[in-house]
Amino acid sequence: MNGDNPPPPPPSSSAPSRVTLHLGHLPSKKDIKAPWPRTPTRVDPNNPPWPAYRGYHEYSFAHATMQSRLPTILGKAIEDAIRTLNTESSEERVVDLAECIDRMGDLMTDLSGNAKLRPIVDDDEADVALWNKEIAKFFQGKDFMNAPWLFAEAYKYRRLHESFSVSKFWRDYDVFYRQKCDTFSRSTDAVFELSLRFADPFKISDTLSPSEKVEAERLMFLELTQVCLWGNSTDLSLLINMTEEQIKALQSTGGDSLAATEKNILGNDMNRLWDHVKTLREKTGGRVDFILDNAGFELYCDCVYADFLLQSGLATQIRFHGKRYPWFVSDVTKKDWEWLLNTMVYGQLFPNASDVELESLRRLGRRWKQYEKEGKWVYEQHPFWCTGYTFWDLHSEAPDLFLHLSRSDLVLFKGDLNHRKLTYDCAAPASTPFEVAIGPMASSAGAPVIASLRTIKSDVVVGLGPEGDEVAERLDKAEPGWKISGKYAVVLLSEGRPGEKVRFA
Ligand code: F6P
Ligand code: MG
Repeated sequence: MNGDNPPPPPPSSSAPSRVTLHLGHLPSKKDIKAPWPRTPTRVDPNNPPWPAYRGYHEYSFAHATMQSRLPTILGKAIEDAIRTLNTESSEERVVDLAECIDRMGDLMTDLSGNAKLRPIVDDDEADVALWNKEIAKFFQGKDFMNAPWLFAEAYKYRRLHESFSVSKFWRDYDVFYRQKCDTFSRSTDAVFELSLRFADPFKISDTLSPSEKVEAERLMFLELTQVCLWGNSTDLSLLINMTEEQIKALQSTGGDSLAATEKNILGNDMNRLWDHVKTLREKTGGRVDFILDNAGFELYCDCVYADFLLQSGLATQIRFHGKRYPWFVSDVTKKDWEWLLNTMVYGQLFPNASDVELESLRRLGRRWKQYEKEGKWVYEQHPFWCTGYTFWDLHSEAPDLFLHLSRSDLVLFKGDLNHRKLTYDCAAPASTPFEVAIGPMASSAGAPVIASLRTIKSDVVVGLGPEGDEVAERLDKAEPGWKISGKYAVVLLSEGRPGEKVRFA
């Protein structure tokens, strides 16, 4: 043995200890802000394109919603189910419903105790896999307050549905149904204002020159776009305690009032929308898709608008996309759709209406039912619409739906929640162009032309133009609450990537 050489160190399984260099003579680290938005390929629910709203953000509507609005809405839903329970006679059905009410009670405990979000029980709904994949990938250990607001709020409505969907007799029970029917019946003035004008197919006077006819049609289009837009301001989740007078004021569809309300459309692409729509007739009429929002009065306004698009020859088919189960209180389900058309033709909702008014409503309803029979109007309900995914994920999580929408000539997204989903529900600056804010829905190959018709009822606001940040700042100071009042609106257009539209034979 050579005594000059020390023996080699014993082999070690642990990693070599780290060497720490002292960099005291280098320049200090700079406070570098990552550029917003994050590139779409790096976006996921935990890495949103801009900071996402969350329930614990006390300054935001997210907080008010998660803290108090959702428990109130759930409390009212429980009251509704109890009201039904008290009218039931069959023991089997009563016991089954009482169990649904217990599950709603558990949800209330989870919501008010800010529990962690658990997976959805397999209740045979087509969206269970989508829900649980998203929870497993992004929300393990997250609770109602620290998950992004959009997901947490949607999750609450999915859990509410689960309270019923695992039952034997009450799978399709709608705790909001009574309220939805009720607001339509309380919208008397605005309902007849429109039915009296549109009961018979409209006709533009033959005495006008071709250019005057186009102008008359343009003006009509712009007014009806506003009717369709402002129909969104009366959604039940916000306006539960409104008086009839307040509803009337919101729903006023008279010409003066529309002119006055146009100045409240802070991002206004209505003229660009017309420029697009008027090209559809040249293709012997286009296909227009409505991604619906609320039932009752808003749906009625959507149908008046859709009727105009058909009658004017601008569209040949309208596809309406609704929800598969009760969602965000007032959203349209198949049952709400059928109820509206049938109540217009056969119902007795308006005891004080004149015979002329009632007849106008019946005629309108009969025409709309006929459109359905002829396939000119089609009602659809894809499972993706009731998930917590934003529409940035529509092409990856529901490719069939994305391809389907790619074939449309115009996709109209109605309302606040759809707008939140289009924009990832983030704190993007108000000057952010709409096409940037909706990411892949504007930039993916095959992205259709999209318009968002939304009265502003929550924090996210984009598309206000180059001066948008100053406009938002001014309103923040002058009218705190302007983002949730429903007084302001946007009509925003994205031109899509029509060159790459997927076409089928
Ligand atoms: O609870 C808040 C919210 O999700 C907001 O998006 C909006 O205030 C309301 O519910 C739903 O509005 P809309 O029916 O227009 O989507
Ligand atoms: Mg809604």
